[in-house]
Amino acid sequence: MYTEILSSPATFVIEPRGFLTGQLRVPGDKSISHRAIMLGALAEGITYIKGFLEGEDTLATLEAFRMLGVTIQGPEKGGDIRIHGVGLQGLQAPRVPIYLGNSGTSMRLLAGLFAGQAFNVELVGDTSLSRRPMRRVCDPLTQMGAFIETTYQGTPPLFIHGGRFLHGMEYIMPIASAQVKSSLLLAGLYATGETRIIESTPTRDHTERMLIGFGYPIEQSGASISVQGGGKLYGTAIEVPADISSAAFFIVGALISTGSDILLEHVGINPTRTGVIDILRRMGAEIEVEESGIVGGEPVAAIRVKASKLYGIEIPKELVSLAIDEFPAIFIAAACAEGQTTLTGAEELRIKESDRIQVMADGLQALGISVKPTPDGIIIQGGQLQGGEVNSHGDHRCAMAFAIAGLAAKNTIIVHDCANVATSFPGFIGLASAAGLAINHA
Ligand code: S3P
Repeated sequence: MYTEILSSPATFVIEPRGFLTGQLRVPGDKSISHRAIMLGALAEGITYIKGFLEGEDTLATLEAFRMLGVTIQGPEKGGDIRIHGVGLQGLQAPRVPIYLGNSGTSMRLLAGLFAGQAFNVELVGDTSLSRRPMRRVCDPLTQMGAFIETTYQGTPPLFIHGGRFLHGMEYIMPIASAQVKSSLLLAGLYATGETRIIESTPTRDHTERMLIGFGYPIEQSGASISVQGGGKLYGTAIEVPADISSAAFFIVGALISTGSDILLEHVGINPTRTGVIDILRRMGAEIEVEESGIVGGEPVAAIRVKASKLYGIEIPKELVSLAIDEFPAIFIAAACAEGQTTLTGAEELRIKESDRIQVMADGLQALGISVKPTPDGIIIQGGQLQGGEVNSHGDHRCAMAFAIAGLAAKNTIIVHDCANVATSFPGFIGLASAAGLAINHA
């Protein structure tokens, strides 16, 4: 049987001093790392990955494929992995339920990938993942012919029945979600005919780019993406760029602390992920992005950030899905800005690893900032961050956002429930201290 791996609760203590300097490389991109394992496992031949994120979420995806009979060597020295792909029809039935920890991306993408297998699979998660909505993938997958059981509330565990015959369909996305889009595209690889997804709002397109990299034909025209079932993926080499979502904490940290000047190396700047840079620049941030090439179909750049005077803004709605994971960090920038920042159209933030609007609002209030949470966003009145105790509620991104707030705070900040930082950013404390954040474990 599976057991939930409970990391010991970690508390961060951040002293109110310091600024960020130096040249840093944050760990590999989480979204790209998940997809590299999935497509590498389903490919014919060997896939070599460099720069894989060794976080708990992506390791959960990796372990899932080992349980399905895929030989995966590594990760070794900084994220080198070699996957012996088994082909689209080569996965074997797992003997026990697959535990995916905190990882919503693993569960939603794998639901699509497993819907067309010959065998049954049960997917389970930790307490946070067990509360997250899965109907957004299960409903359209059911329309394609899948049979997936959830709890009555539509939450995990997911029991995915094997031996179903999937058929392609046209699906107009009711929400902006790369996880849903990717889940359906992966199911589409096993479906008869064409699976066509129409997005009303653009979301990260790593799955589309990587399918092309693995030699699988897809058709893209405007907001529509389609795949035909029955093709083949071919093993390839993938270099994973540094994760812009992890870089965001250092970008904001540098902006809010006088004297900061940092260079972030080899960061993925896929245009479906760079909303954070656009938003911060609109707030007055001095951020230079020097594109250095394309790796594995993804553009990368060196990003230089200097401390800047920030101003509150109304965040344009069209940037929300392009910055969806960076709002905890952006809220810290807003707390340090002059004037008011208003976010709307971001109700998805309430169903991430935590209710990020409430968790960040409570924490910012505890740190002396005037904040009004709304059903689909937040209003933040910039001011002086004081010190105090806040709770990240087990949300890795909220924990790191509160940690970097220490760079602009008057007194010590204590952040509780930070163990999940390891889901996306192993080594955060080491890298942040080396750059100048006065952070320690309690
Ligand atoms: C992800 C998509 C986003 C994001 C998540 C990773 C992905 O979720 O928040 O951290 O890798 O596809 P949604 O697509 O549900 O917005």
